[in-house]
Order: sequence, then C-alpha cells, then structure tokens
Amino acid sequence: MQLRVLETSESVARLVALDLWESIEAGARRLGFATGRTMIDVYREFVELAEALPENWNWSGIQTYNLDEYVGLGPQNSRSFHYFMQQHLFLPLALDNAHTHVPNGLAPDLERECQEYEEIATESPIDVQLLGLGINGHIGFNEPGTPFSSTTHIVKLSGATLQQNAPDFDGSEPPGKALTMGIQTILNARRIMLVATGIAKAQALEALLYGPVGTECPASALRLHPQVSVYVDRALMDGVLERQQSKEVPTHEIRV
Ligand code: GLP
Repeated sequence: MQLRVLETSESVARLVALDLWESIEAGARRLGFATGRTMIDVYREFVELAEALPENWNWSGIQTYNLDEYVGLGPQNSRSFHYFMQQHLFLPLALDNAHTHVPNGLAPDLERECQEYEEIATESPIDVQLLGLGINGHIGFNEPGTPFSSTTHIVKLSGATLQQNAPDFDGSEPPGKALTMGIQTILNARRIMLVATGIAKAQALEALLYGPVGTECPASALRLHPQVSVYVDRALMDGVLERQQSKEVPTHEIRV
C-alpha cells in the first residue's frame, strides 16, 4: 500500500485526478467511480484536465462503474448518487449514458439488480477503482461487519453513515437502504485509489492503516490488495499520528 500525504485537500484532489489521467493514458478503460463530498474536488480537477485534451479525444472506449446508490432514488432525484455523477462528471465530460453504469435504486427486483450489476462490474476487472472513506471505515456502502467475500448487495445503512450523509439531504432523512458493490467486488479491481481528507476521518484512517485487518473496519480489506494508493491531507494524517501519540512519520509515507 502506498500512502501519499499532501499539504491540502486541494492538492490531494489534483494529484488523484492526475494519477487517474495517467492510468487512462496507460490504457485503463474500465473506471470505478465513487461519490461523496471528497470526490467533488477530484472530479472538478479531472474535468479541468479533460478540457485540455485534443478535440479528437474519444471517450467511447471508456466504461464507468459506480460503487453504490440509495434504494428508492433514481437519476432524476438530485440526492441520488446517479444525479451526483451526472452533475460532476458524466455531463461535463459528455459521456454516453450507455457507458456509465450506476446501480439502479429504483429496480423493481433489487436482488436481481444486484446480481446483474455484479456481472457487468466484474465481467472483466475494473482497471482503476476510486474510493472514499466513511467515518466508520466503510468503503462504498459496505458497513462494519460486512464479509470481505461480499459481492453487490442490498445494505441497511448504519446510524453513523446516515448521520454522515444527512447534510446532503437538507434536513430530511436519507434513505435507510442502499445497493453497493461488495468488498470482494472492490478487491477485484486491478488498482485502487482511496481518497480521504479532514480530521473527522482520523479514526477510520488509523484503522485502515494500522488496525487489524478484519470486518470491523471494511477499509482494512484494502491491505489484502497488491495495488492500493491512499491519498490524504496533512490535517488528517496529523490526526492519525496524534491518535497514535507519536509524531513519527510512517516509513511508507511518500511526500509530494
Ligand atoms: C458515502 C459513499 C461512500 C463515500 C462516503 C464518503 O457514504 N457511499 O462511497 O466514501 O460517502 O463521503 P464524504 O466524501 O462525503 O466524506
């Protein structure tokens, strides 16, 4: 696992966008995307880089796969993850709808939707999977206790997650259920880039980096994957180090 600590959340977003571009230039065509406030800056930087592309750049070979979606919300609902992706990435890049895949939270048969989504997301490995980090250590919507062998499934969201995501719902309750790629689905990706900023995630990041590998911290599963980069800002890393009551910089830290 490679840990990259940048001074500010803006520089984190910039580097993640650049690294994603580099992967595309190197041949990545199946991209896994995440939602959440952390990703807004990443996508803004990514779109900015895209604006500098030659006019004949062709997106038609790119397929995108999102991690998760709330049950009961569709692409027209401004609180859905699908809407978020359209707003921040799909529309600015003018991606073809047929090439952007998001679990369908309105599917009449949700179990079947999960099976079908798993099939398309794993029909060949995702080249690069972007991930955010929940304050309780969730990745996608895989809450603590989710088996590492899980595939795309329906999840009942924890109180901590509902609280974390409540600001996106302006006072109304977020849906209590979601569809999410499983931990195994995520680990199938060739390369994983996790992005986390802000001191509120210190406990989750500490567990990811230094805690036991186990279902209590879903993100700790990433330590089983051979190609993971974790991008964090200095404020968050300081929070982790403070928790460990040590100011020593971990040996695998890479400064940029
Ligand atoms: C939601 C998403 C996660 C994301 C998390 C982080 O819960 N399901 O995939 O990692 O938000 O959100 P934020 O970036 O807003 O902290």
